[in-house]
Amino acid sequence: MIYLEQFTYLLASALFIIGLKYLGSAKTARRGNQYAMMAMAIAIVITLVVSGIAGPVQIIVGMVVGGLIGGVVAKKIEMTSMPQMVALFNGFGGIASTLVAYSEYLEPTTVPVSLDVNITLILSLFIGTVTLTGSLIAFAKLQGLMPGRPIVLPMHQILNFILMIGVVIFGVLYVMTPDVPMWPLLIIAAAALFGITFVIPIGGADMPVVIALLNSYSGLAASATGFVLSNNVLIIAGALVGASGLILTQLMCEAMNRSLFNVLFGAVGTDDSTGDAGTGSGEQKTVTRYTAEDAAMIMDTVQSVIIVPGYGLAVAQAQHVLHEMAEMLTARGIDVKYAIHPVAGRMPGHMNVLLAEANVPYDVLYEMDDINDEFQNTDVALIIGANDVVNPAARTKKDSPLYGMPILNVDYARTVMFVKRSMGAGFAGEANPLFFDDKTMMVFGDAKAVVTGLVKSLKEDE
Ligand code: TAP
Repeated sequence: MIYLEQFTYLLASALFIIGLKYLGSAKTARRGNQYAMMAMAIAIVITLVVSGIAGPVQIIVGMVVGGLIGGVVAKKIEMTSMPQMVALFNGFGGIASTLVAYSEYLEPTTVPVSLDVNITLILSLFIGTVTLTGSLIAFAKLQGLMPGRPIVLPMHQILNFILMIGVVIFGVLYVMTPDVPMWPLLIIAAAALFGITFVIPIGGADMPVVIALLNSYSGLAASATGFVLSNNVLIIAGALVGASGLILTQLMCEAMNRSLFNVLFGAVGTDDSTGDAGTGSGEQKTVTRYTAEDAAMIMDTVQSVIIVPGYGLAVAQAQHVLHEMAEMLTARGIDVKYAIHPVAGRMPGHMNVLLAEANVPYDVLYEMDDINDEFQNTDVALIIGANDVVNPAARTKKDSPLYGMPILNVDYARTVMFVKRSMGAGFAGEANPLFFDDKTMMVFGDAKAVVTGLVKSLKEDE
């Protein structure tokens, strides 16, 4: 039986790795998910069967009920709520690890408990709990339940340091006197506080980094729990999540042009995300307002358009009508491309997922580095519900939360067209001076309504 168990775990681990490989490209991502789902189902079933926790009927009933709940939630969840859902999932992963490790403390599988199991148990309690409370804060920030800006307490870093030292001391005391039930509870309490104080000073444009990092932590916690239970598939799957989360964290840091240290310990004060964009200089400037019909008239005269999608596209669910508009322009011989900023939207790959849903062909989607030089030879940069990722303040304004983040060079295009509802700022709360540029056209309105109007006008011209 032990051989069957280990062989099946090996198969599940191989499927996880193949799944990850396919997730590397938008074209094959669906297949990647299917492989990973298969691997998870195999791992769950074999664990339950071998451990004797559940019989076949219970396994089938459990999987059907769980699958139904998951399916309904997945169908009902709005695209715009996906980032919050990912944050919650990370937190659930964390608490699962903490609970399993704590139950293993209460009723160890093998006695006496060896030193290495005790150490991994402490790691599991610590990382799992930090992931839980940190993810709940990230969820609250993304859901708008608390301000998205960094919150810095008096002597914040000292408080973090004290909590970390506390965890180390309680951990040592636990290893020396494991029978004292207070130690694991104190580790959990200190870790819970640390999760909160670790995430609240991170905000604004740095949120992508912390979400990727918490994702990695949920994997590391699971992997530590795998060591506690001597469960190979949990160790491998956890390590895969941990490693891929770290790679994603690194990519997000590169996208923001920040070091991880700077993101975690260099909180920059920002205004709330609901702030007005203003000019950022206290000067009174005016913007030029245009209608969807005006925009359509311009489109009639151009040869090249680069579309820059952002979070507002997801809010408006305008991806389908945007694709329809892009196809109409292409049919007129206009060169249409999409420029994707790595942190556009509210989760990694948000824009790719959104545009894939509308069947936008992958070969017209360009990563920032591959398209940034093309803006200077482009007639129109059409910005749909994006703001921070095109805000030139990132290049020049040293006290801005966006400072240093590479942006899409839309301001180099001959005409810049913003489609958004108001002068409101983006997630980082930073004023966008480009709204006031002479070559900028502001087309105010919900993205879906404006693009639908654009399509209507283009059709009337045919
Ligand atoms: P944002 O800078 O947040 O700008 C989005 C703009 O969309 C807003 O200015 C808003 O202006 C507009 N908008 C909202 N609803 C709209 C609607 N229905 N129709 C038209 N426009 C609408 O978005 P971005 O440019 O995509 O930048 C992403 C930001 O989020 C970055 O700061 C990034 O660091 C942060 N962030 C990213 C992630 C990940 S992993 N991608 C995670 C967390 C945070 P109005 O209100 O005026 O319409």
